This record gives sequence, structure tokens and C-alpha cells, in this order.
Amino acid sequence: MKKRIIVGISGASGFQYGYKVLELLKPFDDIETHLVITKGAELTRTLETDYERETLYHLADEVHSLHNVGASIASGSFKTAGMIIAPCSMRTLASIANGFSDNLLTRAADVVLKERRKLVLMVREAPLNLAHIDNMRKVTEMGGIIFPPIPAFYQKPTNLDEMVTHSVAHALSLLDIEIPNIPHWGE
Ligand SMILES: Cc1cc2nc3c(=O)[nH]c(=O)nc-3n(C[C@H](O)[C@H](O)[C@H](O)COP(=O)(O)O)c2cc1C
Repeated sequence: MKKRIIVGISGASGFQYGYKVLELLKPFDDIETHLVITKGAELTRTLETDYERETLYHLADEVHSLHNVGASIASGSFKTAGMIIAPCSMRTLASIANGFSDNLLTRAADVVLKERRKLVLMVREAPLNLAHIDNMRKVTEMGGIIFPPIPAFYQKPTNLDEMVTHSVAHALSLLDIEIPNIPHWGE
């Protein structure tokens, strides 16, 4: 059976991170991606990038409507290896931290946590207020991984795409997915 990964994209700045997740996972024959994207992310896609919606959708194996809370990924009996939300807005973070399950993306994250699977949140906001910090603590206590996409300069990135690729590859390694040809410190 293929390894199923749920990819969520929410409306924080950095739509490129979610796009890069799908782009890096596309060549893997043994990985099946399930994409769910919020209305906020649709907005950042149009405001921050030139990506076409169809191009994004083609990168995923399955695309789920945000409103379809009856989708496969809304159920714990649908086995997945985990979920990454890239980028993760403070609204989506708050919803997950408080168990609201108010759309398919937050429901899928809720399921991943209840089934004790891996959840990686590429949260993006600056500066942070206490609600943000508190919600990150709550998700961490539930077993989720808070992974802000902070660039690592020791990798000497020469452009934005390299920076995004390094962050996303590191985040994916937390889901036990190793992207080839990404240098690690000490190698
Ligand atoms: C261009 C743009 C950039 C934004 N950047 C951020 C951000 O970096 N972090 C954040 O938490 N919200 C950001 N927002 C606000 C969210 O999109 C907004 O709170 C939205 O309701 C999030 O909903 P969602 O989590 O369902 O996508 C941004 C909005 C826009 C239009």
C-alpha cells in the first residue's frame, strides 16, 4: 500500500511552501498525496504567486473540497502516515489547538492527532501574541510538531527556491520522507 500523506495549505503568507511539498512528493511512486486547501490559501495563491490552481491540483493525487467533511481523510479508519500543513495560519493553528474541526483541513488534522499519527505545522506569523504561543504549546502537548519555516543559513542558499526547498525537505523528514540530493549538515 502507498504511504498516504495529507497536505494542507492555509492562508498564511508562503503559499510556496505548500506548493513545494507537493512538488517534492510528486516523483515518489510509493507516496499518495491528499490535498486540502483553505479559502485563505486561495487568496494568498493569487496575491503572492503566479501559480495556477490547476497546476497545483495536478501535483496532488487527490484533491478534497474544504467543505467535504465526509471525505476519506476525515475518518481515522482511512490510514495515513500523517499530515503537513504548509503554511499554517494562526487561525488554522487555533482551530486545531482547540479541536474545532470546523472544516476538512482542521478535521483531518484533528483525526491525525487522535490517531496518534504525525502532524507537522509550518506555522507562519511574526511577531507572535500569547494566543499564538499558547496554541503552539497545546498542539505540541498533543503530539504535533511546530515547524516554523525559518531559513537555515548554514546551507548557504543562493535563492528563495533553495530556501523553501530546504525548509520543506526538513519538515518532510519529520514524516520519515527523505528528499534526495538535499545536503545535511556534516555531509
Ligand atoms: C496576503 C496575506 C498574507 C497573510 N499572512 C498571514 C500569515 O503569515 N499568518 C497568518 O496567520 N495569517 C495570515 N493572513 C491572514 C489569514 O489568511 C486569515 O487569518 C485567514 O482567515 C486564515 O484562514 P485559514 O486558516 O482558513 O486559511 C494573511 C492574509 C493575507 C491576505
